[in-house]
Amino acid sequence: MDNISDATKGFVDLRRHMWMEGVEVDLRRLLWQIAVTGKYISAKIDESNRKLAGLKNIYGEDQLALDKSSDEILLNQLKFSGFVREYASEEQATIVPVGTGAEKYFVTADPLDGSSLVDTNLAIGTIIGIHDEPVLEGGRENMVAAMYITYGPLITMVYSAGKGTHEFVLNREGEYVLSEENIELKEKGSIYSIGGLRKDWTAEHTAYIEFLEKEGYKLRYSGGFVPDINQIMIKKGGVFTYPALKTAERGKLRLIFELQPMAFLMEQAGGMATDGNRDILSIKPESLDQRNPIYIGSRYEIEKAKEFLNT
Ligand code: AHG
Ligand code: MN
Ligand code: MN
Repeated sequence: MDNISDATKGFVDLRRHMWMEGVEVDLRRLLWQIAVTGKYISAKIDESNRKLAGLKNIYGEDQLALDKSSDEILLNQLKFSGFVREYASEEQATIVPVGTGAEKYFVTADPLDGSSLVDTNLAIGTIIGIHDEPVLEGGRENMVAAMYITYGPLITMVYSAGKGTHEFVLNREGEYVLSEENIELKEKGSIYSIGGLRKDWTAEHTAYIEFLEKEGYKLRYSGGFVPDINQIMIKKGGVFTYPALKTAERGKLRLIFELQPMAFLMEQAGGMATDGNRDILSIKPESLDQRNPIYIGSRYEIEKAKEFLNT
């Protein structure tokens, strides 16, 4: 562990931070390896964006291929990590065994969330969950860590290994530097993000949103789950929801790949996540690609969502 060089540079990098937090040694190596893939994925996004900007029609299909290449990058990294037994990804139909069967950790990934936004130059992201039991076991007690990476004007990474939620920024030297330790959400925020068409909302959800609007909440929705969640994290409050719809009663977002990792990070920052009735982390998945409605953010807004949805 090379801590002296970090100390002389006057900042705390990711490895040093995890070591100071006492994160289990294999887990911290694994988290570091995953964070590194963020650099490779961002290089792919950059390459694809440049092509799209200049040669849109010829290279339009690259935008879709980015989901796949991000998945390949992650899978290759994890295959040789030595700490991962199984890899479950939004881009894979089944769980991929990657280890010898003796490894401690099971990884979930949405390798590139918001890929349809790539050509708009809005922020997109990667979402990771780490479990110490097979991912279909689900649940709070089997989740040991989560992380997301935001590819925006800066590349930032937020992780939790169950000891608070922390933000890092990738600096020009390619190091993840601690920018905010122990993010703590306020009781109540002032922004709301809503997915789904208004005409498809249920009466209970509509009443909840009207309540937020009367209270003066500002609408902030980019259409990218990672930057929309990151906004609530960094602004220390607010609510993101992708509700049950009349046309899709389980909503849109995926429990294992998207919702549970974000719920873990939000709870560790003092926030909450529910499907309206149950905590997102208490839901046991029935299938790999299960979808659930979600209300996630600071406590006041989530408690209110529960009240409105259960009347
Ligand atoms: P993905 O790109 O991994 O399929 O996920 C897209 C998701 C998520 O980023 C966002 O919150 C949601 O789709 C937006 O959906 P709408 O376009 O229906 O608002
Ligand atoms: Mn996604
Ligand atoms: Mn995706």
